[in-house]
Amino acid sequence: MKLLVTGGAGFIGSHFVLRHVERFPGDTVTVLDKLTYAADKHFLDAVAQKITFIEGDIADTALVKKIVKDQGIDTIVDFAAETHVDRSISDPFPFIHTNVLGVASLIEVCKAFPTVKFLHVSTDEVYGDLTDTDPPKNSDDALRPSSPYAASKASGDLLVLAAARTYGIKAAISRCTNNFGPHQALEKFIPTVIRTALADKQVPIYAEGKNKRDWLFVTDHTDAIETMMTAPEAFDTCRIFNVSADSEQRNIDVAKAILNILGKPESLLSFVKDRPGHDWRYALDSSDTRSLGWKPAVTFEEGLANTVEWYKARLGA
Ligand SMILES: NC(=O)c1ccc[n+]([C@@H]2O[C@H](COP(=O)([O-])OP(=O)(O)OC[C@H]3O[C@@H](n4cnc5c(N)ncnc54)[C@H](O)[C@@H]3O)[C@@H](O)[C@H]2O)c1
Repeated sequence: MKLLVTGGAGFIGSHFVLRHVERFPGDTVTVLDKLTYAADKHFLDAVAQKITFIEGDIADTALVKKIVKDQGIDTIVDFAAETHVDRSISDPFPFIHTNVLGVASLIEVCKAFPTVKFLHVSTDEVYGDLTDTDPPKNSDDALRPSSPYAASKASGDLLVLAAARTYGIKAAISRCTNNFGPHQALEKFIPTVIRTALADKQVPIYAEGKNKRDWLFVTDHTDAIETMMTAPEAFDTCRIFNVSADSEQRNIDVAKAILNILGKPESLLSFVKDRPGHDWRYALDSSDTRSLGWKPAVTFEEGLANTVEWYKARLGA
C-alpha cells in the first residue's frame, strides 16, 4: 500500500503510523499534518527515516492532490481533526474548518483520483448520548450530536456517505469510543487527571463524575482500522464500522483508579461545574468489526497502567 495518513502527528494517528511502519515495511507512508497544539512530530521520531512527513492542511485541496499524485497514494487514512469538545464549545469554527471543510477537501481529492480508498476516522459522539438502559448504538442508528465537535464530525461522515453514493468514491467510516493511551494532548480527561494529580493539584471532575465513557486502548483502535482496511467490500459500499472494547467506566472511577496507581489521595478530586450539553453515556455495538476477527487485546487496567507510566516519564515525574 501507498498510504497517506492525515493527522499522523496527533494522538491516534501517530500510533497508527508507528505500528503500520513496523508491521508493513514494504508499504510507503506519507504523513500530512498541520501540527496544531495537539500534534508532536517527535512521536514519529522512531520512523522518521522511513516515512515522508509534510506539514500542511487537509483543507488545502491542491496540496493534497499534489501529494496523492507525487507519492502515488492508493489509500488515505484520515485522522486529521479538531477533537477537544470544550474547545468546540468556545469556538466551533476551527472544527468546521477541519472536520467539515477538510473532509470535503479530501473528498474532492478522491473524486480526482477515483481508485484511491478513503478511510475516514469518526467517533461514537456522532450518535449523541444514551441513558443507562439504552442498548449500544449500531451503525444504522440516527446521528444526534450534542456538541459542536460531534456535529462537525457527523457533518464529515454525512459528506463521505453522500460522496460514496453520488460520486462513487471508495470510502469507509470508522466510529470508535473514547481512546486512551500515550501521546494524547494534555488537556484531555485522562492526561488531565494524571497531570494534576502528579502536581498534587486539584483534579477537576465535571458535575458528580457519573458520566460514562467506553474506553478503548489506542493501539486496539489502530489495529481495528488495519482490520477494516482489509475487509474486501468495505470501500465499495461505504461500510461504517463501530469500534468498542465494551469497557464502560464512570469518569469518577477512572479518576480514582489513576489516583490509586499514583498513590495520591482521593481528596484531590474537585467537582466543577458541568460541561454544557455534557453527554451522559456512550456505548457502541461493534459486532461488525469483531466479525472481521478484531477484538481488543489490552485490558482497561493494563492500558491505564501503561498510560500513567508514559505520562510520568513525559512530565519528568
Ligand atoms: N481521541 C479519542 O478518544 C477519539 C475517539 C473517537 C474518535 N476520534 C477521532 O479520531 C481522530 C484522531 O483523533 P486524535 O485523538 O488522535 O486527535 P488529536 O487532536 O490528538 O490529533 C489530531 C491531529 O490532526 C492534526 N490536524 C488538525 N487539523 C488539521 C488539518 N486541518 N490538516 C491536517 N492536520 C490537522 C493535528 O495537528 C493533530 O496532529 C479524529 O478524527 C477524532 O475525531 C478520537
